[in-house]
Order: sequence, then structure tokens, then C-alpha cells
Amino acid sequence: MKVWIDGSVVDGAAARVPVTDHGLLYGDGLFEGIRIYGGRVFRLELHLARLAAGARAIGLTLPATAEQLREIVCETALAFGQREAYVRLLVTRGEGPLGVDPTPCRTPRVVCIVDAISLYPPEIRARGLDLATVSLRRPPADVLDPRVKSLNYLNSVLARLEAKRRGADEALILNLAGQIAEASVANVFVVRDGALATPSASDGALEGITRRSVLEIAARLGLRAAERSIGRADVFAADEVFLTGTGARIAAVRSLDGAAIGAGAPGPIVRRIDAAFTELVQEPAMGTAF
Ligand SMILES: Cc1ncc(COP(=O)(O)O)c(C=O)c1O
Repeated sequence: MKVWIDGSVVDGAAARVPVTDHGLLYGDGLFEGIRIYGGRVFRLELHLARLAAGARAIGLTLPATAEQLREIVCETALAFGQREAYVRLLVTRGEGPLGVDPTPCRTPRVVCIVDAISLYPPEIRARGLDLATVSLRRPPADVLDPRVKSLNYLNSVLARLEAKRRGADEALILNLAGQIAEASVANVFVVRDGALATPSASDGALEGITRRSVLEIAARLGLRAAERSIGRADVFAADEVFLTGTGARIAAVRSLDGAAIGAGAPGPIVRRIDAAFTELVQEPAMGTAF
């Protein structure tokens, strides 16, 4: 692991954040999870745009321009030296006195971690994921806006924990209206009669970059795709269900709460989309070389 912190790249074990950083104390900050495919940082511009939007939403002035952040990511990626890798770019509120007030925090801290990718094990991907609907709901936008990819991930952590305790691979998280928001760190798609549907931000979904890529792929492949509310009934009635995310990529789902979905195995549409996504990530225009 290589880490850019406080102006230089160091080995992961040497990277340290002071205990007075409000990212640690209050989860006050933002992050992006980004992938490197074939020696290029996939859709870095979209990740930086989402980070910038999140920063505006939480009143945090980014301490670096987009160009500087791009350079930080590329410098760390180069130091890591692998053509396939995972990037975690964080911006914390920075150091300040104990107390939730962020205004005394003078300088937000940028940290960029580049490491090997850890994914769902191949055998789980091959058979499809088992999902459990968890009791914990996604907070609504007027509590904690799910569009802001903040360092507050306790909701996702507890959702994943509950899913694991119940023997599932991943959590299906509902919003307060009982509609599907997303999985713990991935978006949800259902496929029925050849058409795709995925919940939008108003239902509690993060505007995922993989989700966006899949919507673009659907348009290219001539598949109908809608952003709309979906419930558990839509999942049970679906021919196929899959998750999308930087870590998950395109991950087929085979069951929800013990009930098989479709044929109970990765179906033809998810396989087509996965193949198209595999091609997309290799397109030079999609990545930033370092
Ligand atoms: C809560 C949540 N939803 C969805 C996603 C998927 O977004 P992306 O495709 O941009 O990785 C993530 C990614 O980390 C996430 O944390």
C-alpha cells in the first residue's frame, strides 16, 4: 500500500493521521473509492466532480484544485506501480479542538491510499450474491444526504454486519418509505422483461459512477433503463438483479431473504452488462493515465 499524506507518498504502515483530525473524531469528511484498470484511473473526473459537490454540500473548502487532486492520485498510483488497483481518496475537515464545531479546523487534510483490490471472492461472484433485507433503514436526505459520500459510514457498516449475521453476503437497505435505497456500498438494479430499473438519489441511493456507467451501457446496448422507485416485490418478481459499485463492479444477485431470484444464478443480461463494462473500463477515453 502507498499513501499520499501531508505532501509526500509513504508506505501504508508509515501513514499517520493525528487523533485531533475531525475526520477521525466525527467522521467529518468525504471520500471516493476509485479503480485503476489497465494502468488508467477509471472516470477520475467524475469522482473528482462528486467529491467537489460533496465538499460544497458540507461547507468544506477543498484544499487542492481538481488538477492538484488528479496529480496526487496519479503520483500515488505511480508509486504503487500496479496496473490494477484500488484508490481511496479522502478529504477530512482537518485538525481542530475537541468539539463538533468544524469552524476552528483550519486546513482540510487530503489522504490518498492506493492498494490492491479486495473483492467478493470469485466463487461468490460466480454463483451470485445472497442478499438480506436489513432492519436498519437508510437515513433520508434531510437527516444525512445519501448523495454526499461522507466519512459517516456507520449506517452501511451496521447494515453489512446485520446481513453477515444472517448468513447473507450483502445487505439490501430500504428507505423510510420501505422502498429500496441501495446495498451497503453498491447500487441495486433489477431486470424484468429485458428492461433495467434502479432507484435514484431521492430514494436514498448514492449517485454511483458504476451505476451511471451501466445506464450508459444500457443505452449503447439498446436496453430500456429507468431510474425509479423499486420495492422488494420488484426484486422478487425480477428476472435478474445485480449490484454495481467501484468495489463490486457488476455483481449478480441470486437470492433475497432466502428466496431465489429468477433462475437463482447470474442471468444473460447481467452477463452482457458485465462484459460491456469490462470493455468500457479498458477504453482509453474512460481513464486517466499516470
Ligand atoms: C453507499 C454507496 N452506494 C453506492 C456506491 C457505488 O458507487 P460507485 O459506483 O461510484 O462506486 C458506493 C461506493 O462506494 C457507496 O458507498
